[in-house]
Amino acid sequence: MTTTPPPLHGPEFEADPHPAYRWLRENEPVHRVDLPGGAWAWVVTRYGDAREVLADPEMLKDPLAGEETWFKAGLGLPYDHRDSLRRSMVNVDSPDHARLRRVAGAAFTPRRVRALEESAERVTARLLDALVASSDPDLVRDLAYPLPIAIICDVLGVPETDRSEFHRQAAVIDSSSYEEIEAIAATTDWFDSYLGSLVDARLAEPTDDLLNDLVQAHRAGDLTRDEVTSTAFLLLVAGHETTVALIGNMLLTLLRHPDLWERVRDDRSLLGPAIEESLRLESPLQNATWRFPARPTTVGGVRLEAGEPVLVSLLAAGRDPERYEDPDTFDLERGSSHLSFGHGAHFCVGAQLARMEARVAVGAVLDRLSGPRLRVPESELRWWPSMIMHGLFALPVTFDPGR
Ligand code: HEM
Repeated sequence: MTTTPPPLHGPEFEADPHPAYRWLRENEPVHRVDLPGGAWAWVVTRYGDAREVLADPEMLKDPLAGEETWFKAGLGLPYDHRDSLRRSMVNVDSPDHARLRRVAGAAFTPRRVRALEESAERVTARLLDALVASSDPDLVRDLAYPLPIAIICDVLGVPETDRSEFHRQAAVIDSSSYEEIEAIAATTDWFDSYLGSLVDARLAEPTDDLLNDLVQAHRAGDLTRDEVTSTAFLLLVAGHETTVALIGNMLLTLLRHPDLWERVRDDRSLLGPAIEESLRLESPLQNATWRFPARPTTVGGVRLEAGEPVLVSLLAAGRDPERYEDPDTFDLERGSSHLSFGHGAHFCVGAQLARMEARVAVGAVLDRLSGPRLRVPESELRWWPSMIMHGLFALPVTFDPGR
């Protein structure tokens, strides 16, 4: 056994982060990791500690609570410093948090989610028609990536004519690294002004979408204008890559285990449990978003000072043997919960929407593709180079014709 902590970055880590997290869980469950720009953070890897930190109201989410080295390293993205895009529920604490969350959460009504499901079915059918006709079908590029962005456009009420530009700009946010400051700044300007124009349109004439609900809450004095645009932007950022990773990671797991593929294809009551087990085993978010202790505290026996940045590893917690028996095995009968949508006050607002999209997308793939297999060796699959996300750039497949 190695005595030094393994790196939490680089191609080897990205291709298979689980051994590194296993080492940390066993040897340094609350681990200090160096980050770009001279910053560092605590990484919490055991399920029990992770759950405790996520539920702790004294673990603040407001980036202004973070100590100076973290703040100066610019690890919050550039748009985190712009009031019109950063005043959202994920960056604030009580009591503002409850107010912001109530308005956005109330907008995901059952009627809206039903309408979104019909839309997801239509979009998925169209994407799969193109995928089966393609000479180089790719389940991430052709399905997992475009579906969630189409649904976010429905949620926000982005007009059809603006959608290709909206997709193009969202792709810059998804694919840019911290170093690509100029590209991110340009796309941030674009979203700032575009979301502002959607707000103006709804102030002039109400529509039937979530953005309209936010604008009406602004009219009623419950939200500021910055909070409206920031919430719209958060829904884009929080609801896109996460869902891409859920669908992509789950399809990869099913491709690795043809017996599982057949079981779920033949018994659709297993699709829900398969989604939950995939969330646990290959959490789309490696780490939850940043937290900062309001005052000195102890986590897993380690003392943390006020303002020191904390990352909770959802990926590591999902495989903690203290919590899950035989944690590396995909078990459809497991029936246990996970932390992959978070826990406590900041639990994911879009969890039901994400589950619905995964059900529709993976269900349709099971219906349409027979005898699917990877078109490249698994070692050639490329994972996003990120400490926050855990997802695939591409998932090239082949399958038997004519189903
Ligand atoms: C598989 C897909 C998804 C995963 C794995 C996921 C995961 C998470 C997690 C772990 C958190 C908590 C972050 C923390 O406490 O630091 C969170 C929060 C959030 N998620 Fe999701 N999410 C997904 C999809 C979505 C979708 C589709 C939407 C909306 C369109 C969404 C909107 C949000 C929002 C607004 C928050 C902030 C909640 C708050 O701060 O109170 N998410 N999500």
